[in-house]
Amino acid sequence: MNTPEKPSSTKSSSAQKLWGGRFDESTDEFVEAFTASVGFDQRLYRQDIAGSRAHATMLQKVGVLDADDLAQINAGLDQIEADISAGNFEWSVSREDVHMNIEAALTALIGDAGKRLHTGRSRNDQVATDIRLYLRDACDEAAAEAVRLMEGLLQLADKHSATIMPGFTHLQTAQPVSFGHHLLAWFEMLLRDLDRLSDTRRRLNKLPLGAAALAGTSYPIDRSITQSLLGFDGVCENSLDAVSDRDFAIEFCATAATCQMHLSRMSEELVLWTSAQFNFIELPDRFCTGSSIMPQKKNPDVPELVRGKSGRSYGNLMSLLTLMKGQPLAYNKDNQEDKEPLFDSVDTLLGCLRAFADMVPAIEANENVMRDAAARGFSTATDLADYLVRKGLTFRDAHEIVGLAVRHGVEQDCDLSELSIEVLKQFSDIIEEDVFDVLTLEGSVNARNHVGGTAPEQVKEAIKRGRQRLKLTYRKDA
Ligand code: ARG
Repeated sequence: MNTPEKPSSTKSSSAQKLWGGRFDESTDEFVEAFTASVGFDQRLYRQDIAGSRAHATMLQKVGVLDADDLAQINAGLDQIEADISAGNFEWSVSREDVHMNIEAALTALIGDAGKRLHTGRSRNDQVATDIRLYLRDACDEAAAEAVRLMEGLLQLADKHSATIMPGFTHLQTAQPVSFGHHLLAWFEMLLRDLDRLSDTRRRLNKLPLGAAALAGTSYPIDRSITQSLLGFDGVCENSLDAVSDRDFAIEFCATAATCQMHLSRMSEELVLWTSAQFNFIELPDRFCTGSSIMPQKKNPDVPELVRGKSGRSYGNLMSLLTLMKGQPLAYNKDNQEDKEPLFDSVDTLLGCLRAFADMVPAIEANENVMRDAAARGFSTATDLADYLVRKGLTFRDAHEIVGLAVRHGVEQDCDLSELSIEVLKQFSDIIEEDVFDVLTLEGSVNARNHVGGTAPEQVKEAIKRGRQRLKLTYRKDA
């Protein structure tokens, strides 16, 4: 048997490994870089330090560390956190990841007390804890931006509760709607996303620490102490599951992808509406850019980019699902690949929500253009059919009659409301003067006066309820 050999500079290309004891030769230089995650997981340093403080405090309370060790660990971690925040920390690839970089720095600072920090803990439960803490904050930040965006939508909807625009199906003019009502449809989509964020947060807010490498630890730990110090609502009940599953990250990415899908749909409409062909709205110059060759251009870059970014968000979700699908219990190094897609989904979502929250209140509606567009395209044809039904016809007969009237309008290039009563009567003699009440745009929207309908009165009520629902949706308590 070889005699135990202290790792030396001849053995390792760089620093000594925290796990180097059983190894005969140093890590291949390429493998060292290939297996390292410090380049991207250093963003978890605050969570990693918070987890270490809580773990050490618990170890001291149960008598595994003495008070002096704990004081030194806390002081050392304070110093390291300050150094990292100030950009004075040297991250080393040979220390592999954020956890071992910080632990090595702590030991360099305080000696043996630093070496005792990892008692009863593994990087496996450590990293799972860090990601959960990180994602909890990410949920809170995303929720705050989503709320800001939704408040902007409610405000704009309030201003435009009675502004009329064409409502579309198949992107063909269908029936007139209030612009406020359209904006409230966006609000509903986002409110469900906010609810999903709230769910995601609730399910992820459990403590993995205590699971150690996979089976738990032989030290007399008290997980409830660590749990309450870190603000978790409970502990992960099974140690194998605690260190291995990343379904909470998948859930966040799924929530983010769904929200991106909604933002992308909104973007698509904004892009259409700012085009010269629609000309429904103006986006302020500060959210647009010009063309380097065509001087007349003002491009809606922000919505276009948001629409484009949905692609990477869906990709991140697919990456994580695929990452997990074949993994046996418990921890596998595969899991290190969870971070970059997750971080990217967080950054993308926060950026897109922020851009939208800033932009939406600044949208200017070209009310006359919207109105003219609704007045073209026979948007009140259904109202004429409903009118005939109220006068005693079956809906199918009414549908047929209105179809003929529309065909006449197309031939004459005029809207139904522009046909004279004499002409209208040729299609059905039960049509009277009062038909013009329903053929107007206002008559049409006002008639849809029930919960969920587009009548301006209902839009106002929906905004009031929306403000209440917005307050109640995102919950930080379990
Ligand atoms: N950097 C690792 C990760 O992100 C930390 C856990 C490593 N655990 C291990 N047994 N190699 O997953």
